[in-house]
Amino acid sequence: MKKKVAVIGATGIAGQQFLAALPTHPDLEITTLAASSRSAGKSYLDALREPSGAVGWWCDETLCDEYAKMPVMDAEEFDATSVDIVFTALESDAAKILEPRYALTTPVISTASAFRYFEDVPIFIPGVNNDHVGLLRKQQRERGWKGFVTPIPNCTTTGLAITLKPLYDAFGVEGVIMTSMQAMSGAGRRGGVLGLDAIENVIPYISGEEEKVQKETQKILGKLSGQAGGAIVPADFGVSATCTRVAVLDGHTEAVFVATKEKCSADDAARVMRAFTGGLEGLHSAPTPMIHVYDDPFRPQPRRDRNLGDGMTTAVGRVREENVLGQNGVKYVLVSHNTKMGAARGAILVAELLMRDGYL
Ligand SMILES: NC(=O)c1ccc[n+]([C@@H]2O[C@H](COP(=O)([O-])OP(=O)(O)OC[C@H]3O[C@@H](n4cnc5c(N)ncnc54)[C@H](OP(=O)(O)O)[C@@H]3O)[C@@H](O)[C@H]2O)c1
Repeated sequence: MKKKVAVIGATGIAGQQFLAALPTHPDLEITTLAASSRSAGKSYLDALREPSGAVGWWCDETLCDEYAKMPVMDAEEFDATSVDIVFTALESDAAKILEPRYALTTPVISTASAFRYFEDVPIFIPGVNNDHVGLLRKQQRERGWKGFVTPIPNCTTTGLAITLKPLYDAFGVEGVIMTSMQAMSGAGRRGGVLGLDAIENVIPYISGEEEKVQKETQKILGKLSGQAGGAIVPADFGVSATCTRVAVLDGHTEAVFVATKEKCSADDAARVMRAFTGGLEGLHSAPTPMIHVYDDPFRPQPRRDRNLGDGMTTAVGRVREENVLGQNGVKYVLVSHNTKMGAARGAILVAELLMRDGYL
């Protein structure tokens, strides 16, 4: 029996990726699609139609007929008891109101930031911080929910935290400086970045993004302390980020400088990244490999590398020793698919991990 899932915010850039990923999923089947009152009452295909008549389906995969014909509900009216899992891909303000309502009865896996910074909420990246799962029981106990809300990270945090994890475990980290070159799809379909603003340009500011990356990286790589769920003690290194938007469709590129506690050569860094599996073998959407490290100095590139491992693999290259920030360290460039591993497929992977470990 497959688990019934709802996709809330199904018409958006992140929401659409759930529909691209789930038709062939062995354990999950979509039974409900919901979005705002703008889309409610229409078929999914009609809800995607722009005033010009163009259909705003942004995935490379074909939209399957079954989903195209499904009705879109108003997210306000959705009864979460009708499904086993709710995937949400909502703007944060709507998520703040709707997610706790759904979580009263049903587990919610969210791409939104609304709940990421609460003490009783983990920010999962499967393979990186599976042990934070204890917080979900604490959340249920203390909030009196049968379900829970478990958000994935900001799409810029994902590749950074994945690549830092093996370095942190092997060599310790003193500090991180990261500059991102983020894809336009990361800004969403409504109120996103205008092509006219982005083409032939680099926009040097993304509101709120740098703070999210800094806070989330420390939380994800932090330790869960104490009994019965406890609390996360954030990782004790500083993270400084500059986030920019570039005229790339999908795939965030990041230039990362890491000061390590112990000496770490470029070869050492590449070796531990290549060896990092996260223990996700057997999960349907597990990145294979978790990190791909190129020797070719012209890689990674967003256009060529974002779809590695079905958009789940983090591509790394230009790994070099770095000692300007401290005595020891490395620098590298990464590419991570913001709407796949960084959004819908990353959330689906969380569901697979939670199913495997008996939380769903
Ligand atoms: N884009 C990415 O790469 C990415 C990556 C990671 C995380 N995220 C996060 O995922 C969430 C969605 O982002 P997105 O890029 O997909 O945005 P988007 O393209 O603008 O889509 C927003 C979705 O939310 C729905 N919505 C908006 N207001 C609503 C309301 N009041 N009630 C119910 N539904 C409402 C929209 O429905 P209508 O079509 O009916 O308006 C649409 O389905 C955000 O929290 C974002 O930060 C995005």
